[in-house]
Formats: sequence, structure tokens, C-alpha cells
Amino acid sequence: MAELLVAADLRKAFGATPALDGASISVDAGEVVAVMGPSGSGKSTLLHCLAGITHPDSGQVRYEGRELTAMPDRERSALRRGKFGFVFQFGQLVPELTCLENVALPLRMERVRRRAAERRAAEWLERLEVTDVAGKRPGEVSGGQGQRVAVARALVSNPRVIFADEPTGALDSLNGERVMRLLTQAARESHAAVVLVTHEARVAAYSDREVVVRDGRVRDLTGTRHG
Ligand SMILES: Nc1ncnc2c1ncn2[C@@H]1O[C@H](COP(=O)(O)OP(=O)(O)O)[C@@H](O)[C@H]1O
Ligand SMILES: [Mg+2]
Repeated sequence: MAELLVAADLRKAFGATPALDGASISVDAGEVVAVMGPSGSGKSTLLHCLAGITHPDSGQVRYEGRELTAMPDRERSALRRGKFGFVFQFGQLVPELTCLENVALPLRMERVRRRAAERRAAEWLERLEVTDVAGKRPGEVSGGQGQRVAVARALVSNPRVIFADEPTGALDSLNGERVMRLLTQAARESHAAVVLVTHEARVAAYSDREVVVRDGRVRDLTGTRHG
């Protein structure tokens, strides 16, 4: 399968602290990759570089052969909006909007009309098994429900890559499993790739492949690439 997203020899330091020290990784279309490693090893920094949120000090990131690291900001933002979806540890839903409106928001930003956007948002809430929270605000739902709403929002615009940074980190194991099952199932049905940062082996079990970040470098556990 074609390489969708490739990072080569990324380096990034925050002051004197090196976060990435020659990190390389590639993600195929539709592949679910778990990025493991101890706290502070550079996982989030790697994810942010892959997603075009953080600019590395050196090295390249290519999406479908286009170099993210060389794109003008506006083009990179457009690519991020159109092709990428995000799920963070704490849902980061907009507190003033209902859950349905939160899921519809990415479509509204692409100028999809309200009714059509909310219809699609409702379908995604159903797939994530949270139809009952549609009219509630994020502050009125449980952590697990909020994360499922966040997953629906990440997938509603039919992205090619979902970036998830410790998406179950704030959940108990039962809710964590449910979020992971629904996230990976929905991503697979949509043929979206997933870059999943986690330090829990239980969560990584939902992936096709596991890599480990240590001291700002990536090791492929399966040994097939970047070994
Ligand atoms: N915005 C930042 N400012 C300063 N240091 C940072 C910043 N982001 C990350 N770091 C540092 O870079 C290293 C890697 O961090 P991070 O990528 O967040 O690791 P992980 O996600 O694996 O816990 C850590 O030493 C961390 O303290
Ligand atoms: Mg992190």
C-alpha cells in the first residue's frame, strides 16, 4: 500500500531540551499505528510535526508526496482542515455548543449548510453510540461520552488521517476500551489512517503496528521498517 504520510529525520528542540532527535516514521493509507514510549520521549512532538502543527527544526514531513514542512501556512492549514482529524486527551469540545453542534462544526467551517451538517453529525453520533447526548453541552456529559463525541467530530469531515494523542488517557479502562473500539472501527470503515499516541499496551492492541519513541527517535517494533 502507498505511503501516505512520511517523516524523515525530524529534529526539534525546545530551548536546550531535544524533543526529537532524528525521528523517522511512515504511515500507510488506512493503517492504524500506535506510537508508544515513556512520558517525555517525544511522542506528542512527533504527532504535532506529522500533523503540521509544529514546525521541526530540521527534517521533512510529506503527505501524499507534498512537503508539509515547505508549504505556506495557509496551504498547510487547508490541508489540515481537509485531510486530518484530531482527538486529544481531553476532548477539547467547544463548551458553549451542543454535542451535535460540536460534531457539525468542521462541516460548518467548510460552509456546509446547517441542516446538512447536522444531519451528518447526527449519523456520526449514532455510529459512536452517543445519540442521546446530541442536545447536551460537553459539560453535561461523561468523559467517555465526550471522547466519543470528539471522535465523531474528528471523523465527520472524512479525513484521511486521524491523529489521536492519549485519547483514552483520562478514562477508566471500560470507557477507554469502548472509545478505542469505536474509534478504530469507524476509522477502518472510512479507510482513514490513525496515528495513535498512547503509553497503554491495552490501547495499542487496537493498532496494526506499534512503534516506540525513545529519546526522540522511533523504533519499529515489528522490525519491518526503520528497524
Ligand atoms: N512546548 C514545549 N516547550 C518546552 N518543552 C517542551 C514542549 N513540548 C515538549 N517539550 C519537551 O520535549 C520533550 C518531549 O515532550 P513530548 O513530545 O510532549 O513527550 P511525550 O508526548 O512523549 O510525553 C520533553 O522533555 C518535554 O518536556
Ligand atoms: Mg504527550
